[in-house]
Amino acid sequence: MNPSQSQPPYRSPSDIHRAAQLLREGGLVAFATETVYGLGANALDPVAVSRIFEVKKRPSFDPLIVHIADIRQLEQLATDFPTKARRLADRFWPGPLTIVLPKTDIVPDIVTSGLPTVAIRIPSHPAALELLRLADVPVAAPSANLFGSVSPTCADHVRRQLGDSVDCIVDGGDCSVGVESTILSFAADPPAILRFGGLAQEQIEAVIGAVAVADHTETCPSSPGRLEHHYATETPLLLLDSIPLPPKDKRAGLLALQAPTGVQGFAAVEELSADGDLAQAATRLFAAMRRLDALDLDMIYATIVPNRGIGRAVNDRLYRASRNKPRLEYT
Ligand code: TXA
Ligand code: MG
Repeated sequence: MNPSQSQPPYRSPSDIHRAAQLLREGGLVAFATETVYGLGANALDPVAVSRIFEVKKRPSFDPLIVHIADIRQLEQLATDFPTKARRLADRFWPGPLTIVLPKTDIVPDIVTSGLPTVAIRIPSHPAALELLRLADVPVAAPSANLFGSVSPTCADHVRRQLGDSVDCIVDGGDCSVGVESTILSFAADPPAILRFGGLAQEQIEAVIGAVAVADHTETCPSSPGRLEHHYATETPLLLLDSIPLPPKDKRAGLLALQAPTGVQGFAAVEELSADGDLAQAATRLFAAMRRLDALDLDMIYATIVPNRGIGRAVNDRLYRASRNKPRLEYT
């Protein structure tokens, strides 16, 4: 994480105390994390959690991630913490890794959509960590956007979409990672990546060896964030291998890792990283999608990025935002 991106102005100490108190009282608090903004409620309070589903218009079959501040809180949530999971937690928490483990009875069914497992992570944003520490309860939090739409990477995104429905927004500035956490399930052996995200598969495998990758082209009720047509823009988005010629009869936007100098004919161009840096591309992806979406274009053309490291998460989100048929090359 780049600390300069997660420093104040995020909140005054009294704000964060108030936000923590709201969580303990059953309120809904949107808060910055290093990945995307979350929409949080006390994970042990089923009524509070039900408000998350209402506000997001999220189907009840889509389970939530439980956020904690300290690894010692994991004991009350999970019945087993396998050695490989522990080694990853030691290495990458706090950070953009979510670990799926068998759940204890204390975790309400509404959080896990009735699954016998619970998804857990410790976020690394200082505002999130402080909020979680002060609240002193595990916090269930999906991304703070309406179900199916693009995840928020700054407080303003949350304000515009959900501002009237939340009790408080902990503004931590722009998210430094910019795509959601990587989800790794220990429900089977070998562990399986259910969603590519801010932590690269290569980094995970360097610590615990080979992991499985769940088939990202199938719609899978065990991790519905993988449902097709998620992270969608209102404007139709077409995903391509390379930059096309601009259409003559349409106002089209271009979303590319690097835009060649002098590229012409598009109504708007979003270059994700002039240097071709995949981490920077991930950080900027969702805001760029929102900006293009606000221009009332006929079409957005997006091009895939190199499919390695965090590039896999970028391609996954672009693919899901697109109207393309599944293609294994960029899953
Ligand atoms: O970076 C993130 O993970 C962000 C921030 C706020 O922490 N959260 C996030 O939450 O992306 P959400 O709800 O948008 O995505 C959570 C994903 C869903 O796709 C859900 O299916 C999966 O986690 N999930 C949650 N519990 C699960 C479980 N027990 N087994 C398998 N997948 C699970
Ligand atoms: Mg989400």
